[in-house]
Amino acid sequence: MSEVVKPYNQGSKKQEVEAMFDNIAHKYDFLNHFFSLGIDILWRKRAIRMIKKFNPKTVLDVATGTGDFALLTAKHYPEVKSITGIDISEGMLEMGRKKITDRQLNDKLTFLKADSENLPFEEGHFDAVTVAFGVRNFENLEKGLSEMFRVTKQGGVVAIIEFSKPKRFPIKQLFGFYFKFIMPTIGNWLSKDNRAYTYLPESVQAFPEGQVFGDILSKVGYSKVEIISLSGGIASIYFARK
Ligand SMILES: C[S@@+](CC[C@H](N)C(=O)[O-])C[C@H]1O[C@@H](n2cnc3c(N)ncnc32)[C@H](O)[C@@H]1O
Repeated sequence: MSEVVKPYNQGSKKQEVEAMFDNIAHKYDFLNHFFSLGIDILWRKRAIRMIKKFNPKTVLDVATGTGDFALLTAKHYPEVKSITGIDISEGMLEMGRKKITDRQLNDKLTFLKADSENLPFEEGHFDAVTVAFGVRNFENLEKGLSEMFRVTKQGGVVAIIEFSKPKRFPIKQLFGFYFKFIMPTIGNWLSKDNRAYTYLPESVQAFPEGQVFGDILSKVGYSKVEIISLSGGIASIYFARK
């Protein structure tokens, strides 16, 4: 069993992750776009294109945070009927709800406080389930993925975006330096949380990426698992069907 990486090493991973995102919620969007230079938007759009092919009408965005993936899905896939976003951090959801209201999307998007490991929806409720940069924060990864599988309709799809570790020179070295040294220094300072942006590379390091993660998706029941490496391996899309 691999070591559990937590933000503060004081409570359960879930409590700490919730507290950390509550703490940085006010700066999250700014830092996200600042550090990624907008590249994450290209990754998100690619995942949305994959989901779109299956014409889902109902989408669940797990670990929705401030709602960027859900909002981008609504923008690039206007045919969608409803998107439900869930997250354990009320602070993150609050920021997301403001964006829904500003963009007058209250009839299509709903953000609720809920735990991915105990989803308050019946079996087969959603045509598609998405997660962007959320799964590595789950306390019990398999339980969260099993719950996502349970609420996915038969024939439905799941799309997960998560950071991975680039393997090749020079992106491995350049990104490694940026991710492990530059980002934590600036991120911890600007977010005023002295662990949040140190926890980020640590949690990516501990995450079972690539085929190992693909095998966990198969284990919880998903089939036809596809793994798409993005930007030299900085992130990956995991796409699968129920
Ligand atoms: C890095 S943020 C990603 C937010 C958003 N998906 C995005 O792409 O910007 C990770 C989010 O996962 C949420 N999270 C972590 N564990 C969770 C769980 N068990 N259930 C629901 N949300 C969870 C955190 O509260 C946080 O908002």
